Amino acid sequence: MSRLSQNPLRDPRDRRLPRVPEPCALVVFGVTGDLARKKLIPAVYDLANRGLLPPGFVLMGFARRDWGDGDFEQVAREAAKQGARTEFRDEVWQRLAEATKFIPGSFDDDQAFDQLAQSLKDLDASHGTGGNAAFYLSIPPSAFPTVLKQMERTGMANNVETNSWRRVVVEKPFGHDLASAIELNKLVDDVFTAQDVFRIDHYLGKETVQNLLALRFANELFEPIWNSHHIDSVQITMAEDVGIGSRAGFYEGTGAARDVLQNHLLQLLALTAMDEPVNFDAAELRTEKRKVLGATQLPKDLARYAVRGQYDQGWLAGERVKGYLAEEGVAPKSRTETFAAVRLDVDTRRWAGVPFYLRTGKRLPRRVTEIGIIFRKPPFLPFAHSDTEELGANQLVVRVQPDEGLTLRFGSKVPGTTMEVRDVAMDFLYGEAFTENSPEAYERLLLDVLLGDASLFPQNEEVEQSWRIIDPIEEFWASGRRPELYRAGEWGPRGADEMLARDGRTWRRP
Ligand code: BG6
Repeated sequence: MSRLSQNPLRDPRDRRLPRVPEPCALVVFGVTGDLARKKLIPAVYDLANRGLLPPGFVLMGFARRDWGDGDFEQVAREAAKQGARTEFRDEVWQRLAEATKFIPGSFDDDQAFDQLAQSLKDLDASHGTGGNAAFYLSIPPSAFPTVLKQMERTGMANNVETNSWRRVVVEKPFGHDLASAIELNKLVDDVFTAQDVFRIDHYLGKETVQNLLALRFANELFEPIWNSHHIDSVQITMAEDVGIGSRAGFYEGTGAARDVLQNHLLQLLALTAMDEPVNFDAAELRTEKRKVLGATQLPKDLARYAVRGQYDQGWLAGERVKGYLAEEGVAPKSRTETFAAVRLDVDTRRWAGVPFYLRTGKRLPRRVTEIGIIFRKPPFLPFAHSDTEELGANQLVVRVQPDEGLTLRFGSKVPGTTMEVRDVAMDFLYGEAFTENSPEAYERLLLDVLLGDASLFPQNEEVEQSWRIIDPIEEFWASGRRPELYRAGEWGPRGADEMLARDGRTWRRP
């Protein structure tokens, strides 16, 4: 226990002071991949730049490349320079560079893993990592079993004798359905103890997503009306303007529901719908989220309430873009969906009768993620009908990204002699209210892994619960027709609008 936490005057939950992890090594498998280059290495640099990495920190890369430590250092430096959120400073990088190490090898190469295990020991002696290590599996799920077995074989996964920690970070998707997720979870749990497994859903690392908890539970204003008495429906949208780019290998056969709905959107639903946890410890938060996921029901009629689409060619930001089927690596008759929308219901006293509409898609008009809380209309309006013609329902919109903040939409009198009421919006913008920039999701989550703080990481059971929700939808789609086409640059297929129209509602236009 550190001296800080022994201080009787200090609340152990006080997280205002920056927390610096114990000395450790971070080993990234798949370090030449997109995620490592664009997110992980820049996040490591940003943490170093903010003084949040311990003195005995070592960054290790493992990949099938004929590289030495110097080559890895160069590539990592370039990645940090390109992707860092904070200013790139040579002296900060130099300190990191002195503690980088590369192990070349493929996942079935015993010798390479023996070398990795030996390096971890050597680095403890040379850099004082204390024998602590976090292993980041930034690799295709099909490679998990091999890598995990190698870690078990070489004894890297546990380090009980030296009283140090070993943790593993697993990137989503966790399996491709419930059965494979259970298998994967079992595999990971056989090698690592449950508390040392960190499953990443990077949406939980976003500042605005965490602010949802502050908004709901630190204020008196919202919680009393956060229920079916006042809320008509909830709309959660995650839209992207990009296509699949060079990710066909991953995306084909995965699709929007497995890629985003199963994890990011269901986690947003859980945080929006959950009851107040008694505190923000990992176990308490999970308990509340699990209750929501367990109470989440699919509509009986999936044909009407689960819509999928695939982007066709079209125009985006003045540029002609190709359709999904013309993307490199996509099968000519692919049925993979690039858009998914679904209605879910949360069967609890708080939410009975309030539909949660979730949608996600690629090649939509713009990149935006938001949670829209649509309130009921007042039961009676003491105005002439014509006075409130332009008055919509009150809405509270959590803008997850971009323009991070909140919008509250309500009716207001139009200045003048008549009593005309029209919608107006009140905005809170992070960028204006705070001077400090929000850390990137991966920055926050990597730090939490090194600190051993699991509150923002979904656990086995949540992952399995989420597949229980998604599996029937996937099965239904698999037995049905091709996804409906939508033109790139439009808000998804017509079926998504029809789905809401059936309930007498429309999608928000973010
Ligand atoms: C990932 C998905 O989890 O999230 C990608 O695999 C998607 O398909 C990405 O593009 C979006 O993340 P963000 O943080 O840019 O919204």
